[in-house]
Amino acid sequence: MTVKELLRAGVVRKDLVVKGWIKTKRDSKTFSFAELNDGSSRENLQIIFDAKDGDFGAVLPRLVTGASVAVYGDLIESPAGAKQKMELRAKRVEICGDCDPEKFPIQKKQTSDEFLRTMAHLRPRTNKYGAMLRIRSELAFAVHKYFRDNGFFYVHTPIITASDCEGAGEMFTATSLDLSNLASLPRTDKGELDFSKELFGKKTYLTVSGQLEGEALALGLGKIYTFGPTFRAENSNTYRHCAEFWQIEPEMAFYELEDDMELAEDFVKSITRHVLENCRSDLDLFARFVDTELMATLKNVTEHKYERLAYTDAVKILEPENGRFETKVSWGVDLASEHERFLVENYFKKPTILYNKPKEVGAFYMKLNDDGKTVRGMDLLVPRIGELVGGSERENRLDVLEKKMADFKINPESYWWYLDLRRYGSAPHSGFGLGFERMMMLVTGISNIRDVTAFPRVPGCAEF
Ligand code: 4AD
Ligand code: MG
Repeated sequence: MTVKELLRAGVVRKDLVVKGWIKTKRDSKTFSFAELNDGSSRENLQIIFDAKDGDFGAVLPRLVTGASVAVYGDLIESPAGAKQKMELRAKRVEICGDCDPEKFPIQKKQTSDEFLRTMAHLRPRTNKYGAMLRIRSELAFAVHKYFRDNGFFYVHTPIITASDCEGAGEMFTATSLDLSNLASLPRTDKGELDFSKELFGKKTYLTVSGQLEGEALALGLGKIYTFGPTFRAENSNTYRHCAEFWQIEPEMAFYELEDDMELAEDFVKSITRHVLENCRSDLDLFARFVDTELMATLKNVTEHKYERLAYTDAVKILEPENGRFETKVSWGVDLASEHERFLVENYFKKPTILYNKPKEVGAFYMKLNDDGKTVRGMDLLVPRIGELVGGSERENRLDVLEKKMADFKINPESYWWYLDLRRYGSAPHSGFGLGFERMMMLVTGISNIRDVTAFPRVPGCAEF
């Protein structure tokens, strides 16, 4: 049984075995005590070594921080007044893997986030990263539960794609060509690389978003969502950008922008509540040691109706504050993180959904409003992070979409199938993308995206 199961059951048991890693050990004259953790929860199991119960003389010196062991013994109630309820009286110990305490890199003295990033293979053994990874697992479960409970189908969109959904040109090329042997690369008459000789017969990339294929699936299944890795080759070294991140993208036929915003708000609240209800002990670690405001933030996220703010009204709020911003705001400017955070943290003091942005700063697929100037895009902004969700109602009118693609200099031929969706039984539809790592930052209070994923992919780091 795992430590979690044992402590939760809380009943006395004879002759069991528990396996895990030693956290600490201390010796008194008559006993030794060790704390054992097996990753199943934040709680350790206290183990008592009493010379009356067995001969531990040879093994005790090897029970050092980091060693892995199997302990055989009886689970008993701790004496009244002890900080834990149950403890294990050891009868026999097997060392599974020794750990040299002089060399083990994960020591109490060296636990800065920066240092632990260089030890990403060992940091799952620490309290903080163990808690983060357990919450991450539970949050992923909450995502699936939410959509399943609400009649959505889980679909899988391709990782390798020929289209740039966001049109931002931030794509990693996916190639089967051997780039280490330049002389071998196929060339056209003009000497350029000949992608028709590629495995797929064309140039391909790692996807930045599953949205375009998600739209095709929603226009057959009604309500779908994706939950998978997406990739951005942007060289932004910030606390909230990764080159590889997980995105959740629901897409719904017959939903308009209003319905989309409603869903995004309900979804964020629901998965936050799920974590609050199911990850108490791990959350407590973050509330105590990482962000003392965490519980207040989560209350703010789950308990208020989110502010809805049209872009034009946001500009009216922001313009008089231009003195405090690096990028000055005027109508037409793409709002940056500093502006988003001002609206959420200083002005409304709660999550805010910003909608109807100028068509030039929205993506090509966003539905044009009747004013001809703005599009039905929306961003859900939260404290500390800024943009958590980006979404829109999609342009479902063939002629308007073709015109917009021309404005964005997108070649309609490569999007023939996307345009087909507007040719045959086109329907209003909407969707959004939520960055899973940013959601993790929100629920844990962890301030750097490098610390909410086990093995972050950020500029300069593809170790592990
Ligand atoms: O706003 P974005 O670029 O929107 C899309 O990709 C749409 N196709 C989504 C859709 O409508 N189906 O990205 C969506 C979200 C952002 O709000 C942010 O939370 C996250 O993905 N995100 C990133 N997270 C980490 N690192 C990055 N580099 C990110 N870029 C976007
Ligand atoms: Mg966005």
